[in-house]
Amino acid sequence: MSDKIDRDDVSGTETTGHEWDGIKELDTPLPRWWLYIFYASIVAAVIYWVLMPAWPLANGYTRGLLNWSDRRIVAAEVHALEASRAPMFNRLAQASTADLARDPELQEFARAAGESAFGDNCQTCHGAGGAGSTGYPVLADDVWLWGGSLDEIEHTIRVGIRSGHPDARISQMPAFGRDHMLTVDQIGNVTEYVISMSAARERLQADARVAALGAQIYQEQCAVCHGATGAGDRVVGAPSLLDDVWLYGGSREEIRRQIDLGRNGVMPTWERRFDDGTIRALAYYVHQMGGGEPDVVAPAPAQTAAPAPGIDQGQGSGAGADATP
Ligand code: HEC
Ligand code: HEC
Repeated sequence: MSDKIDRDDVSGTETTGHEWDGIKELDTPLPRWWLYIFYASIVAAVIYWVLMPAWPLANGYTRGLLNWSDRRIVAAEVHALEASRAPMFNRLAQASTADLARDPELQEFARAAGESAFGDNCQTCHGAGGAGSTGYPVLADDVWLWGGSLDEIEHTIRVGIRSGHPDARISQMPAFGRDHMLTVDQIGNVTEYVISMSAARERLQADARVAALGAQIYQEQCAVCHGATGAGDRVVGAPSLLDDVWLYGGSREEIRRQIDLGRNGVMPTWERRFDDGTIRALAYYVHQMGGGEPDVVAPAPAQTAAPAPGIDQGQGSGAGADATP
């Protein structure tokens, strides 16, 4: 190290005085602009500490002169949002089906509110977009167990199915095998009969001879709920057996297992969980998923109300047989 100031010949910059094997270390000063930014950020940090919440303390933190709180701001925004939505939810809760049908603004609100409530509460069972899965019906198609009009869907959501709610939708398909109501052979025969009446008859190559043996059992044990022609009955939530849509799977084994065990799926009641507006929004969202049916103007129950099991169905002709006058 030497005391005299040594300058590099080429750049004119001072050296630090360090030298290794003839290579000298330059003492290049920091650029001005860099230094200014550096000092400015120190000043900015001090101002920030004074104004904003910054330093942790033993119990709490320095709040700063502005008393800023993100949490309080979010809470206020959520509150404001709820307050601004409340009139819409009220309007929705009070709207008749006809009101809703001619109010696009209300429809859009119902769809959005319904979609978010569905995602949080229904999707676990019914799948995204109501795609369904074994035991959990597809909501996006036009096959309905209990009914697909806005009012019927709303009622299902309100009271649930076999949910324990006093007005719940209820019916109980017996476990014909497990409870020894039919023999193993009889179950095989009636399974074949069900397949032969359904649109799955070709896919599963129904055996006409075996199916014929099951016809009488069907009329005695099953027609009460599923209808003489197999068209189903919404009053008891009995699915149509004519299509090739199966709640519990469409293989011969799965169809047989349903007859063997009965299943009686449970859908919770939501009445206590949601206000009327949210239930209406959910119903609207489900209704517009793809299979919603128009609301019946004349009271609907008359078409399928089957008071006495066994005799009302008669010899139906074709798929419309359930529509007794
Ligand atoms: C714990 C699972 C579960 C949850 C959660 C659930 N469901 Fe269901 N849901 C079911 C089952 C099972 C059925 C069919 C019951 C049966 O066998 O009739 C059903 C049936 C329905 C039906 C009747 C379908 C028809 O064909 O008539 C509607 C509508 C429905 N659910 C809507 C909803 C909505 C809306 C929600 C959310 C608020 C919801 N479900 C949440 C299990 C569930
Ligand atoms: C008390 C009414 C009732 C009777 C009687 C009844 N069922 Fe059912 N059945 C239902 C209901 C309700 C369902 C669907 C709901 C559930 O179990 O979760 C169903 C479902 C089925 C299914 C499944 C359909 C699917 O989509 O997966 C088949 C198959 C079936 N029944 C066949 C029969 C046969 C065969 C008999 C007679 C031996 C019979 N049922 C008697 C009410 C009944």
